[in-house]
Amino acid sequence: MIEVRGLTKRFGATTAVDDLTFTVEPGQVTGFLGPNGAGKSTTMRMILGLDRPTAGVALIGGKPYRELERPLHTVGALLDAKWTHPNRSARAHLRWLAASNELPASRVEEVLRLVGLTEVADKKAGGFSLGMSQRLGLAAALLGDPEILLFDEPVNGLDPEGILWIRRFMQRLASEGRTVLVSSHLLSEMAQTADHLIVIGRGKLIANTATKDFIDRSSESTVRVRSPQLDQLRSLLTSNGMTVREDGAPVDGAAPALTVVGETSDAVGTLAGDNGITLYELAPQRASLEEAFMRLTGGSVQYHGEGLEQAMGGAL
Ligand SMILES: Nc1ncnc2c1ncn2[C@@H]1O[C@H](COP(=O)(O)OP(=O)(O)OP(=O)(O)O)[C@@H](O)[C@H]1O
Ligand SMILES: [Mg+2]
Repeated sequence: MIEVRGLTKRFGATTAVDDLTFTVEPGQVTGFLGPNGAGKSTTMRMILGLDRPTAGVALIGGKPYRELERPLHTVGALLDAKWTHPNRSARAHLRWLAASNELPASRVEEVLRLVGLTEVADKKAGGFSLGMSQRLGLAAALLGDPEILLFDEPVNGLDPEGILWIRRFMQRLASEGRTVLVSSHLLSEMAQTADHLIVIGRGKLIANTATKDFIDRSSESTVRVRSPQLDQLRSLLTSNGMTVREDGAPVDGAAPALTVVGETSDAVGTLAGDNGITLYELAPQRASLEEAFMRLTGGSVQYHGEGLEQAMGGAL
């Protein structure tokens, strides 16, 4: 388990991490989600003892990282895939890591097999593709067979096959009962990977909930209706307490449309039917995950591009 309490990090005037409190439970993949600059990497670095908190604590299995007796056996991390020595082979790199942590060379062969690098293990790591580098980073994180794993944006830049492989691998590690914390700035990615989500924006906690609940809560459902009796329909809907947005007339001259917010198509269709209003279209719609996520973290995105809007004289 990972426990973070009141964790805060300031860099000069910037508060990168702002009074974060959460726990990461074993046996599931926990997504650590937030837009660029939200403070994900800084939080992970503090959990791993690489950055000193301004305030608060981060505990791994009940202890701060620096008090762990055998850190490599307790926690494994993948922060930056390209940190290996470029002229060293994958096997030599892992053997060096293993030896400096009193692990047998046989464990190197095991982790190479786990991540599927056995066949290229004697090639120079500097020539590895991003996907292979990520696998090597994973192998290093797994050397000490740790119960707790942290991955910082592990699928960034990978092709779909690489993404799928990493995703399945993380899920497997969690199903073995390990604690898995993985960061991303994409809700759509986390929706397919994580069971639970910790969402931050500008260093602050926004949500800590099951992934499904977060998605249900954040993605607004709307119903698009098109009718030749739009004025009647509009007053019927609003007099029944429904919120309506105007969609305007379609360019092809077809009957105009309305969007009803936060209602089901069943409710809208029944109301129209009961009142004898003809509908040409009744279409339930769901905002895309990324739209929903942007709305939720919108106030917390660090760089809004306001400067650009001003420079364009409001032309954007
Ligand atoms: N060493 C540092 N010195 C000064 N400011 C820093 C330092 N490290 C991070 N920051 C600032 O802290 C904030 C959080 O950065 P962090 O890298 O933790 O965000 P992130 O969520 O990992 O973002 P990304 O998705 O871009 O990786 C940013 O405003 C960043 O500029
Ligand atoms: Mg980061």
